This record gives sequence, structure tokens and C-alpha cells, in this order.
Amino acid sequence: MGIFDSFRKDKKPQQNTELKVEQDQETGQSESVPEEAVAISEANAESVDVSRETSAEEVGSGISSESEFSAAEIKSYSEKKPVKNAVGLTKVISIINQKGGVGKSTTAVNLSAALGEMGKQVLLIDLDPQGNSTSGLGIEKNKISKCIYNVLLDDATLEDVIIPDVCEGLDVAPATINLAGAEVELVSEMAREQRLKDAVGSMRGKYDYIFVDCPPSLGLLTVNALVGADKLIIPIQTEFYALEGVTKLLESMKRVKTRLNPSLDIFGILLTMYDGRTTLSRQVAAEVRNYFGNQVFETIIPRTVKLSEAPSYGIPITQYDPMGKGAASYVNLAKEVIKRG
Ligand SMILES: Nc1ncnc2c1ncn2[C@@H]1O[C@H](COP(=O)(O)OP(=O)(O)OP(=O)(O)O)[C@@H](O)[C@H]1O
Ligand SMILES: [Mg+2]
Repeated sequence: MGIFDSFRKDKKPQQNTELKVEQDQETGQSESVPEEAVAISEANAESVDVSRETSAEEVGSGISSESEFSAAEIKSYSEKKPVKNAVGLTKVISIINQKGGVGKSTTAVNLSAALGEMGKQVLLIDLDPQGNSTSGLGIEKNKISKCIYNVLLDDATLEDVIIPDVCEGLDVAPATINLAGAEVELVSEMAREQRLKDAVGSMRGKYDYIFVDCPPSLGLLTVNALVGADKLIIPIQTEFYALEGVTKLLESMKRVKTRLNPSLDIFGILLTMYDGRTTLSRQVAAEVRNYFGNQVFETIIPRTVKLSEAPSYGIPITQYDPMGKGAASYVNLAKEVIKRG
């Protein structure tokens, strides 16, 4: 019996047609965990979550000092370089999983940068108050006066907050800690689930891809990401609790699809932090493929310390370690994204 047997496709999700906000007010984290996941977790209560650990032999060359941090120039949208390539039909893709530390921001930054280098016009919207995509691309948050918060809750447009040309072909709508207040403040707003969708609508036609880096919760920010997106990329870390919470995410997706965004669908499931040396990584990858079939990208993102170091230098992996396996995996993913249309 496989470790994810309880997640088999024939297992029906709970019926719940209400679009609810599942959020712990104190932690900002999603509270509800499906029973199946609890069963798996309990059976392995002894296991330690190693999602943010790196094996000893992988410890790399060292962490950046201030001087090595490559700060992005903060320009306004009106100063954006002229676009050379013709822009295709805009695809809005939210990178989403309410489980923390699965590689959402790493994927948002590096996939966006790889597509930009391939001649695509890309906008990365950082919808996480942690602002990891923002800082991972060298944007110093203390130098920004407006962020995506102002788009969701004030009268700012995306153009007001976008920092253009952060990397080749890549613009960023940054997040600062101000965004932390948005979860609570949105509750009393009209059309609170549609804010991102409305903002993104005005940028269609200007980008090939708009990616949204989501926070690790199923709160209103994530609901905005579900309503505003055409498709979803769900990163899944190849470790034991991989599918914990995914059932809940898929239920949220279905509810949004039914009520607010009928064309919403999974664009791809991405296996991340894969360590081919471990049986567990191989087993989890096989189980996820078994469960999601060809929705899973062929490209697997390996666990490599270079990918965890790059953000502290404020540059994507294709600049930090262009010849390494981390860069190669995100370039391959970018090709697969283009191929999937
Ligand atoms: N392929 C990888 N190899 C090694 N380390 C990785 C890899 N991908 C991500 N990491 C590291 O794992 C940690 C979590 O990754 P990341 O921040 O991308 O996850 P996240 O899902 O965005 O987290 P959160 O839910 O907190 O927003 C980071 O320290 C990151 O540098
Ligand atoms: Mg993140």
C-alpha cells in the first residue's frame, strides 16, 4: 500500500459549497487539515519536517554579505524599456500551496526569470506579506513606497507599483510587510475576492505571463489569487507530508471555479526539492505522479543548496549558478510551461 493511498482519486472530497476563509487569525496559517492528512501525520509523529534543511554534504560556499547583494534598480513603470518581442495572449498563473516552504517563491522567482531570459514578457506579483519573491530579486523593501497592498486596498493601479526590468523581461509588483494587514482589512471590503482579478485585467496584453506568488494560507489573499488566475501551478515538495493540505486546496479551487472563476484549472503540479539519493523522494514523486497523472510536470526541481543561496544575493539561479542543475531545471520548466501553451 502506498503512502498516499488515502489521497486516491476515487476518494471524494467533502461536500462544501461555501466559499470560506480558512485562516487562523493569529498565525495567518491555514488551520484546517483534511482527515486523511492528519492520519498520515499522526502515523509519523516522530518524523521531523526537514523542508528547510540541507544535507551536510550540500552545504555550499557561504551566505552573502551586504556587499554581495545585488540590489535591483527601483524604476517606475513609465521608465520601462521598450518591449522588443511581440507579446502573446496573457496567461495569469498563481503559484499556490497553502503548505509553507514547498518552493513557491523559489519557483516564482526562477521560473519568471527563466521565461524572461527566453524573450517572454513576465510580471511577477508578490502576494505574500513575507515578500520573499520581492527580496529574492534584489528589491529592497524599505525603498518602496507602494506595494501590492495599495493595489488591493487603496486606489493604486498595478502600473503604480510595478518595478520594471528587474531582470531581463521581468517586472515585479512587490510586497512589503504592509500586505500583512490586507487579510484583515479586505474582510470588510466590497468585492473583496475580486481585487486582484480587476487589477490584473488592466495588464492583459502587456505580458506573456503574469505569475502570482501566494502566501502559505488559504486566506483572502489566496482566494484573490484563485479568483484572479487563469491557471495554477502547485509546487509539491518531495517529502513525506507532501500532499498534506492539497485536498483542501483542491476543494478551494473547486469552490472558486464553481462560483467565481469557471475556467480555473491546474496548469501543472511541480515536484520540488527532489533528492534522488533518497528512497523517500523517489517514492513520493512516484506517488504524486500516480495521483495527478500527466498534470505533473516532467521537470523535477532538485534539492540543491545553490537554489537556497541565490535569494540572499538578490538574483535568480540563472544568474547565480547558470551552469548548475538548479538553473537547468528551471530553464527546462520554462520550456515546458511554454509548450503547455
Ligand atoms: N530546490 C531547492 N533546493 C534547495 N532549497 C530549496 C529549493 N527550493 C526552495 N528551497 C529553499 O527552501 C526554503 C523554502 O522555499 P520557498 O521560500 O521557495 O518556499 P515557499 O513555498 O515560498 O515558502 P512560504 O510558504 O514560506 O512562502 C527556502 O529557504 C528556499 O531557499
Ligand atoms: Mg514563499
